[in-house]
Amino acid sequence: MKASLIVHGGAWDIPPDLIEAHKSACQAALLEGWEILSSECHALEAVEAAIRVMEDDPALNAGTGSVLNAEGQIELDAGIMEGGGLEAGAVAAVQNIRNPISLARKVLESEYVFIVGEDAVLFAGTAGMERCSREELVVEKELRLWRAQRGAAASRSQEGHGPTGGDTVGAVAIDHRGDIAVGNSTGGRPLKHPGRVGDSPLVGCGLYADNTLGGAACTGQGEAIIRVVLAKTAVDLLKRGRPVREAATLAVQLLRKKVNGRGGLIMVDRNGNVGYSFNTPAMAYAYMSEDQDEAVIGV
Ligand code: GLY
Repeated sequence: MKASLIVHGGAWDIPPDLIEAHKSACQAALLEGWEILSSECHALEAVEAAIRVMEDDPALNAGTGSVLNAEGQIELDAGIMEGGGLEAGAVAAVQNIRNPISLARKVLESEYVFIVGEDAVLFAGTAGMERCSREELVVEKELRLWRAQRGAAASRSQEGHGPTGGDTVGAVAIDHRGDIAVGNSTGGRPLKHPGRVGDSPLVGCGLYADNTLGGAACTGQGEAIIRVVLAKTAVDLLKRGRPVREAATLAVQLLRKKVNGRGGLIMVDRNGNVGYSFNTPAMAYAYMSEDQDEAVIGV
């Protein structure tokens, strides 16, 4: 089986001065995940490792450097799924956790699928994960943006993320055994209502994996993505052998057509082929397959 890994750093209107930072974050995540995938580890390990790299990169809206909510807090969502037994784990609206993807993984390994808020943080404690302070997650750039955006909040469009809003990070992998894994992590929308949850941690909406078809991870306007159950829709488009690139394109077209949504997604199919599509001005991505000589990095 051909192993493959694709990652993205969020579909949105990336300002020109942040493009390089987004590309290099994706490249670093790909390298980390690919090393793990190449050493015969399960696809879940590669996805978790790749996303941790992006969570730790302050340029991206996940983990450290996430956007702030209406109250100036960082509330994080993450989800992870594997396509063999359809096992999934997710957390939402969690504060004081540096790597929510690893907490989602702990949930996947538990009897539960989804734990939210302060109780998810308590769960992290029982699973041996340390809390961090709010200050460790907040970066100066996002604090300045929050102050500026708060003033303009009343006039902000409901259409989605602001031009400085960032989005989700995600990864999809298939390993040598044909096991597929998908993960997402995000700070959500800037100035979001406390407790608001987008598509990223929701099985079927932000992520889906099924070894018999493929896997998909979504990014963009969560409120739109949820309503078209975008990840499951994209994976279902792989039925009857449709090429993965075509499935990705069709899914993003459907997002626009049905709910006028903006976003993107990354995919792998059960044969290790990768695909991606987005209808936002930009989406940083990187991918590698065993039949490629070198990684592809783009935006
Ligand atoms: N796509 C991320 C969010 O809407 O929260």
